[in-house]
Amino acid sequence: MPKFYLTTPIYYPSGKFHIGTAYTTALADTIKKYKQLRGYEVYFLTGMDEHGQKIQQVAEKAGKTPQQHVDEMAEGAKKLWELMEIDYDDFIRTTETRHEKAVEEIFDRLMEQGDIYLSEYEGWYCMPCETYFTETQLVDGKCPDCGREVKKMKEESYFFNMKKYADRLIKFYEENPNFILPESRKNELFNNFLKPGLEDLCVSRTSFDWGVKVRKDPKHVVYVWLDALTNYITALGYLSEDDTLMQKYWPADLHLVGKDIIRFHGIYWPIFLMALNLPLPKQIYAHGFIMMKDGKMSKSKGNVIYPEPLIERYGLDAFKYFILREMSYGQDGTFTPEGFVERFNFDLCNDLGNLLNRTIGMINKYFNGKVENYPNNCSNLDKEVENFSNGIIHQVEEDLDTYHISNAISETWSLISRTNKYIDETAPWVLYKEEKLDELKSVMYHLVENLRRIAILIAPYMKYTSKKILEQLSIPENLQTWDSLSSYKEIKNLKVTEKPEVLFARLEADIEIENIKNMMK
Ligand code: MSP
Repeated sequence: MPKFYLTTPIYYPSGKFHIGTAYTTALADTIKKYKQLRGYEVYFLTGMDEHGQKIQQVAEKAGKTPQQHVDEMAEGAKKLWELMEIDYDDFIRTTETRHEKAVEEIFDRLMEQGDIYLSEYEGWYCMPCETYFTETQLVDGKCPDCGREVKKMKEESYFFNMKKYADRLIKFYEENPNFILPESRKNELFNNFLKPGLEDLCVSRTSFDWGVKVRKDPKHVVYVWLDALTNYITALGYLSEDDTLMQKYWPADLHLVGKDIIRFHGIYWPIFLMALNLPLPKQIYAHGFIMMKDGKMSKSKGNVIYPEPLIERYGLDAFKYFILREMSYGQDGTFTPEGFVERFNFDLCNDLGNLLNRTIGMINKYFNGKVENYPNNCSNLDKEVENFSNGIIHQVEEDLDTYHISNAISETWSLISRTNKYIDETAPWVLYKEEKLDELKSVMYHLVENLRRIAILIAPYMKYTSKKILEQLSIPENLQTWDSLSSYKEIKNLKVTEKPEVLFARLEADIEIENIKNMMK
């Protein structure tokens, strides 16, 4: 069985997870489910990045020890992933012994082999990002990543000799043009960071102690990014007694990250791996941000939206449909209450829900719920729909294989639209009236066949809806698999349900828009 190792970033437990964090995780879960449907053995890792000054401060403010704070946050995170039915295989926390021990060891080794050396660092430090910047990197004197105030700081630090590996990484980029996705991000990293020459990276701190201590110099704690990035291998048992998973799954097939952390994943992480003599991950995909009408989500603006109330009110499938569709490949997307309600009412109720309902209603009315088999004499229009449908399947697979999830969803919805239009074009009620029963049978067959395909295509991200469609149409199990997408003529002697269940009940737009606005905090 082919293997696939997939990771999300490990999240900072500095605040409750919002829909942005939920997006990365839902995306990963969708990819996992798709890969499984394609016959892969998938290992999906997520977790939490629990060290660092900021976490220490947040805990202190709440009157808790950092450990208490991160324990509570980890519980909250797991609850959210349960609500979202995220099927991860491991949840790593950087405060776990299995991780800390390996990080200590990694730091030691890198020191011993001369990649890490002691020196002094002076620079502009952004506390929330836990990153130093040089004067020239600042934007209007502020942090270039988050736009907040920075502080001039100086401390004795260990440094990682990045320069030593820079040429090797440049060569790797050249030989592996699809290493970083999308290409625009790769070009950015290559031209703005790699080519001008890498600075050595400061990899320890003395200004706080909530972190992994450097074994040979315990007043230093390991810089949070060296600590964090290594989670992808410590979770597989790297340097532990049992490294079966490491042998089986490393290198990762895909690291999913947000665009804000691509630099750490695309430059520092591969270099750390080179220093450890490990193979590099196969691909890193950087997605965009979920934005709000008035910019980034932030508590001070009161525009943060959390997944729980949306899922509780509108269901998991609708929530995932919205966030995955709204985020085009590598681009930012926007969450608005109006947009959410519109997609719910139009895409889900009208387009998909009505298609199913109309189809089942007609089959019951015209043929007592029965669909016999693939018709002998299809009309040109029937054939056109069949061809269109074949084309969509091909396209959706290509999109999913290249992580263009939003495109895959739009393609699927264009099949839904085409099928709805086919009903209008063939006007089954007229065929019935005119007693053209063979033609009418053919139309019903094509409707059911396309609904079957649609149900399978949405399965990786809309499990419940997919199941409901297949159940209401009474599709046999062997025609529910991804592989069965390639067939079009296999349906035989179906009896659809007599009582179709509504997939999505239409929302009262004004009321629900208000409701969602009230969910924002
Ligand atoms: N702890 C680091 C990652 C270490 S990985 C070795 C971190 N954590 S984070 O909690 O700040 O962010 C985690 C992920 O959430 C990042 O990929 C980030 O891009 C993503 N997002 C945070 N806000 C987001 C949106 N509004 N929209 C989409 N993704 C967003 O960085």
